[in-house]
Amino acid sequence: MKCAELFSVAGRGAIVTGAGSGLGLAIAEALAENGARVTLLDIDAGRIEAEIQRLARHGYDVRGAVVDVSDHAALEGAFDAALAAHGRLDIVFANAGVDSGPGFVSGWFGANRTRNPAGALESYSDERWNRVIDVNLTGVFATLRAAARRMKSQRSGKLIVTTSVAGYQCEPAIGSAYMAAKAGAAHLMRCVAHELAAYNITVNAIAPGFFVTNIGGGHAKDPEVQRSMAAVMPMHRVGFPEDIKGLALFLASPASAYLTGQQITIDGGWTLGPAD
Ligand SMILES: NC(=O)c1ccc[n+]([C@@H]2O[C@H](COP(=O)([O-])OP(=O)(O)OC[C@H]3O[C@@H](n4cnc5c(N)ncnc54)[C@H](O)[C@@H]3O)[C@@H](O)[C@H]2O)c1
Repeated sequence: MKCAELFSVAGRGAIVTGAGSGLGLAIAEALAENGARVTLLDIDAGRIEAEIQRLARHGYDVRGAVVDVSDHAALEGAFDAALAAHGRLDIVFANAGVDSGPGFVSGWFGANRTRNPAGALESYSDERWNRVIDVNLTGVFATLRAAARRMKSQRSGKLIVTTSVAGYQCEPAIGSAYMAAKAGAAHLMRCVAHELAAYNITVNAIAPGFFVTNIGGGHAKDPEVQRSMAAVMPMHRVGFPEDIKGLALFLASPASAYLTGQQITIDGGWTLGPAD
């Protein structure tokens, strides 16, 4: 296969959850720009509507639906609608995620980090824990299950989960429910990859480091936060949604046909060690 075909997703049917903003939107754009027929799912009706209109103006083959990934019946309905619209389902990104509020330390890197009682274990409410697990872990399970139900009989498919470096490295500014859910999603990805390998369905994960998106109320958009994070990054900059596009395309395309059960970190070197 020539390289242009190896990385081609032209004509493929794709679904991206949490596609109204940030990384999911960049992933949906990468697929649509390269000729895939993409359904964007998101809980935020305003965002989905605005982004679908913007992408459609570029002539891309896109449609959207408002779905909460913790509503499994609605998710199944959205998969049926996407399959009917695209005529096929080849690529699914289980990307939707929420932050979990403060961790046990306040502030990102820099001099002013202090213990934050609001993020301490004893302050965690059941409601807060359950919502993060429902979206970031059970939502991934429901998305992978919906994909498997439709892909197994065709004996092909590409499933990609957005996890996080926080799933394998503790970061005290991040709530522990988020980190536990991401660790769970990473291992669920491996288990599902093992199960579906015989059906020619690959399952992998993207583990981002620090990206400027709307998560956590868009705290990463603060230039001061970006400066302090860039200082600890070996590449001396934070990530932007554009940075995810190449990896997403690789994992969605035939170029990654023999790769399964892997979590690929994309973090500017953050988890390698301290910056110089
Ligand atoms: N930004 C980062 O630094 C970073 C780092 C590691 C992992 N991640 C992960 O990347 C993924 C995308 O997050 P992002 O940073 O682009 O944030 P974002 O807030 O910009 O985008 C997340 C999107 O998911 C949607 N969403 C939230 N809950 C949903 C639900 N229940 N059902 C459907 N849609 C829902 C939101 O409306 C939003 O449009 C998440 O899984 C997040 O945990 C982000």
